[in-house]
Amino acid sequence: MLELRGINKSYVNGRQVLADLSYTLGAGEYVAVMGESGVGKSTLLNLIAGLDTPDTGEILIGGTAMSSLDDDAATRLRRKEFGFVFQAFHILPHLTLRQNIALPLLLNGASRKHTEDRTEQMLGAVGLHGRAQHFPRQLSGGELQRVAIARALVHCPKLILADEPTGNLDPDTAHDILMLMRGEIKANGASGIIVTHSHAAAATADRVLVLTKNGLRPEDAAHPANSLQRR
Ligand SMILES: Nc1ncnc2c1ncn2[C@@H]1O[C@H](COP(=O)(O)OP(=O)(O)OP(=O)(O)O)[C@@H](O)[C@H]1O
Ligand SMILES: [Mg+2]
Repeated sequence: MLELRGINKSYVNGRQVLADLSYTLGAGEYVAVMGESGVGKSTLLNLIAGLDTPDTGEILIGGTAMSSLDDDAATRLRRKEFGFVFQAFHILPHLTLRQNIALPLLLNGASRKHTEDRTEQMLGAVGLHGRAQHFPRQLSGGELQRVAIARALVHCPKLILADEPTGNLDPDTAHDILMLMRGEIKANGASGIIVTHSHAAAATADRVLVLTKNGLRPEDAAHPANSLQRR
């Protein structure tokens, strides 16, 4: 589903953040990425998401090199196939919650009936059914985070990228949301990458990887998160 080939990324005046990083994420695979603050986890997700470009190396989605697509084609592919839960992806302030969540379906040309039904389903799934007509300014940070997650999943994307998706949520809500993400990923045969500092959150993925300056590696097999049996 996703292949990273020899990715290098440095910031202007900065040290090299990612050095010759290669990794292949299979279809239907859901991994958690952990690692020290500043090691480059958000940088990596931003590159995959197309918010930034690698200095060298190639990112392939479903076998297609992103660098081979023009901007319009790349945008169309991401809009259809990707779901993002990033803090940078702000909820639009002048749209209601229902309209915000429905947006990916509208942009992808879904039917009106499907858009309405699926949007209601996602509103319920993140516990915001009664708030559908509210505007983002009327919500708490954690509620907004749930809107962002509903919007990321509503169009059944094939690749879900989430950077600290439950950072603003209380433990019970966080667990519910992580189970919703996992359920949607598995139900759609999608692939997912969740970046988190929480071992409990990481344990809801199939596998835990750690990003270090030497690349993406499986977490020490001794970690309890890897010894749990999974579907
Ligand atoms: N736009 C930028 N310009 C310059 N340096 C940057 C930029 N974005 C990130 N960096 C630097 O790149 C390194 C990696 O940052 P990144 O945000 O990817 O880390 P992270 O692993 O996500 O950390 P955290 O766990 O704290 O979120 C850091 O040293 C950071 O200061
Ligand atoms: Mg980060």
